Amino acid sequence: MFDYQAPEQLLAGRIILVTGAGDGIGRAAAKSYAAHGATVVLLGRTLDKLESLYDEIEAAGYPQPAIVPLNLESATEHEYMELANTLEQEFGRLDGLLNNASSLGVRTAIENYDPSIWNQVMQVNVNASFMLTQALLPLLHESSDASIVFTSSGVGRKGRAYWGAYAVSKFATEGFMEVLADELENTSPIRVNCINPGATRTQMRVTAYPGEPPQTNPAPADIMPVYLYLMGADSKEINGQSLNAQ
Ligand SMILES: NC(=O)c1ccc[n+]([C@@H]2O[C@H](COP(=O)([O-])OP(=O)(O)OC[C@H]3O[C@@H](n4cnc5c(N)ncnc54)[C@H](OP(=O)(O)O)[C@@H]3O)[C@@H](O)[C@H]2O)c1
Repeated sequence: MFDYQAPEQLLAGRIILVTGAGDGIGRAAAKSYAAHGATVVLLGRTLDKLESLYDEIEAAGYPQPAIVPLNLESATEHEYMELANTLEQEFGRLDGLLNNASSLGVRTAIENYDPSIWNQVMQVNVNASFMLTQALLPLLHESSDASIVFTSSGVGRKGRAYWGAYAVSKFATEGFMEVLADELENTSPIRVNCINPGATRTQMRVTAYPGEPPQTNPAPADIMPVYLYLMGADSKEINGQSLNAQ
């Protein structure tokens, strides 16, 4: 496991947006950021999951979060701009963006891959991350120490049979991270990196490996050290890297 002990108030005063915050790794990351002092903006498509996380964060006495219900499959450029305007009015800046939400698509051969599912996976995993990140860049520039984190996968570094659009989208994610990190290097205090969570006990993992006993893999809460490290000031000098959570 990535070895990092986060100070209790690592993220005090920071504003961090997490996509796919309602479930799995995104939910654990949002809660962990809040527990370390951040005000978290919870973006996801299923309102009741976001509301239950909101309640958990409030009940724990962490900083009051904000909820953004948005479906990344259908969200328009206009909706991303509206979100940026709302965050600008509410907070005036953004210190962290965790691009975490992803669609798995189907596990099948390229020969049989349904083009509409291909497009849906690319829309959520690549195009939405681009549009959201682009819309939020002006707010990230307002921070003295901002961090953008993308979410990769083992199949985004070495392609494997039957992972289809998901694998290709993760290669694109690694590429997008490298391009943006290089553009911002030396010109901005924004750092841009990727995390490969590794096999983690979530709904996505169950869907991808239905026969696997769930306890085989660590829970999302167990892989948080790298998520905290990249959002806090200790990673200020890290840019353009793809780190493993495990
Ligand atoms: N789990 C693993 O073993 C593993 C391994 C390698 C990489 N990853 C990566 O880690 C990240 C998190 O995965 P996970 O395992 O936590 O997945 P998960 O349990 O399926 O959770 C994904 C979250 O993203 C949200 N989401 C999906 N499509 C969305 C859309 N169109 N609009 C808005 N939100 C959407 C989901 O919303 P709903 O709650 O509404 O479904 C859910 O909250 C992903 O990028 C994944 O590729 C995971």
